[in-house]
Amino acid sequence: MRGIKIVGTGVGLPSQIVTNFDLARRVDTSDEWITDRTGIRERRIAEPGVATSDLCAEAVRAACADASLAPDSLDGLIVATSTTDTLFPSTACWVQRKVGIKGMPAFDVSAGCSGFLYGLELATALITSGTMRRVAVVGGEVMSRVVNWDDRGTCVLFGDGAGAAIVTASDGSSGLLASNCGADGSLAPILYQPAGGSQMPATHETVDAHAHTVHMEGNTVFKHAVVAMSTAAVQAMRDAEVGPEDVTLMVPHQANMRIMEAARERCGIERDKMYSVLHKYGNMSAATIPVALHEARTEGRIKDGDIIVSTAFGTGFTWAASVLRW
Ligand code: UT7
Repeated sequence: MRGIKIVGTGVGLPSQIVTNFDLARRVDTSDEWITDRTGIRERRIAEPGVATSDLCAEAVRAACADASLAPDSLDGLIVATSTTDTLFPSTACWVQRKVGIKGMPAFDVSAGCSGFLYGLELATALITSGTMRRVAVVGGEVMSRVVNWDDRGTCVLFGDGAGAAIVTASDGSSGLLASNCGADGSLAPILYQPAGGSQMPATHETVDAHAHTVHMEGNTVFKHAVVAMSTAAVQAMRDAEVGPEDVTLMVPHQANMRIMEAARERCGIERDKMYSVLHKYGNMSAATIPVALHEARTEGRIKDGDIIVSTAFGTGFTWAASVLRW
C-alpha cells in the first residue's frame, strides 16, 4: 500500500439544469431514448463566460475548506481536463490565478475521462516520494463548449462540472492499495476534437465543418470502455488482494449506465455497491469520479477504512483503475 489520504473533497457545478425534455425540443431525440440507452436524465450546463477554471477553482476552494487547509499551503495543483481554458497556459495556472495562490507547481493532465485517476496516481507518486505533502487533484470540464448541439449522437451525453480532492500523506491506515493506468494511442481518432490544435489549426472552414466539436464512434467506444474498465479494475483488485466482497463502494467513471453496469458485473461487485450520479450530471469526463466521490462522502457512503474501487476509460484511448483504502 502507498500511504496517502484524501482529506477533503469539493465540487463546482453550474446551477443551470438541462433536462432530456429540454434537449428533445432542440434535436430529434426523446427522454425515453436517452434514459434507456444511457441512464442520463439531466445535466448541468455552464453559463456563458464560465470557463473550466472557474468550476475547478470553486471545487479547489471547497475541498480546501473541507480539509481545513488554506489553499496557499498546497504543494501542488494537478488539473485533469480535456476542455482547457486556453491552449496555453494550462488550466491549472488559470485556476491558481482564480483561487489567488502561486508558487506551487501547477499543471494539467490530458487523459480524457481517465484524467482524475491519472492525477491521483501522480499525486500519490509525488507524496510517497517525499516531493510534496499536500496536492489538489481536480477533474473539471465544460464539455458543453465542445459539443455539436445539432448532433443528437453526442450532445445528449455530456455535462459540465468539476470535482477536487486534497491528497496528503497518510497516518498509516489509509492509502492506494493498487492502481494501474494505460493508453492505446492507435485508437486516438475514435474519440477526439479534430480542430484547434497544431494538427488542424482553426480556420473559418474548420468552424463551418464543426471540427472543433466532439467526434466519436459511440459503439466502438462503448465496447472498448467495458473491456478496459473491467480489465483494469479486476487487475487492480487482484494486485490489492481485494475480493469483490471486500469492496465497500465502486465509483466508476460515469459515461453510460450500461457501460458502468457491464464493468461492475465483470468485476463481480454487487449492484447496490455501485455509486452513480450519472442521472443528474451526465458524462462530465474527468470530473465524474471526483464529483461522485464527493457526493458519496457527503451522503455517508464512504467512511474511514472503506475499500473504494474506481475505474475509468476515455479519449486516447486511456484507462485507469484504483483501489483505495479510505
Ligand atoms: O466517456 C467516454 C466517452 N464516451 C462514452 O463512453 C460513450 C460510449 N458510447 C455510448 O454510450 C453509446 O454508444 C451511445 C449512447 C453513444 C449510443 O448508444 P447505442 O446504443 O450504441 O446506439 P447507436 O449508436 O447504436 O444508435 C442506435 C440508434 C441509431 O438509429 P438507427 O440507425 O438504429 O435508426 C441512432 O441514429 O439510435 C439513434 N440515436 C438516437 N436516437 C434518439 C443516436 N442518438 C440518438 C438520440 N436520440 N440522442
